[in-house]
Amino acid sequence: MHKVAKPVASVDARVLQLVADLLETMYDAKGIGLAATQVDVHERLIVIDVSEERDQALVLINPELVWTSPTTHLNEEGCLSVPGIYDGVERFDAVHVRALDQTGQLRTIEADELLAVCIQHEMDHLLGKVFVEYLSPLKRNRIKKKMLKAQREELR
Ligand code: NI
Repeated sequence: MHKVAKPVASVDARVLQLVADLLETMYDAKGIGLAATQVDVHERLIVIDVSEERDQALVLINPELVWTSPTTHLNEEGCLSVPGIYDGVERFDAVHVRALDQTGQLRTIEADELLAVCIQHEMDHLLGKVFVEYLSPLKRNRIKKKMLKAQREELR
């Protein structure tokens, strides 16, 4: 979870299979985004779907933020990798992200609201960063204890 992802070299069959796996995992978990990092593949690839109907999959390969809004807001976030934990993270209100799509085409996406937040959250994963790391040491400690407890219960 804390490894920095490397760029995807080319959008080939292997990468498309990874995209399909990520989408399946995300939809199964009813998540709105998933980074390859979360399935232990350390390449710059994320999938997102913030639509109500769950039919607007967005695939971002080698995403780079090319613009961020001057304004930010505190956003309540959770993460499939730290289940049951929700907390506030300061995020840009809007971002422009440049990335390859699943056809290998370079696109720039202008995002605001939930999509903008989701892009920032997933891109953090690619840097080996989980949103709980923005929280105070006290809060992080509490989360660590909670996760250890959950792990112990799972082992039973
Ligand atoms: Ni996450």
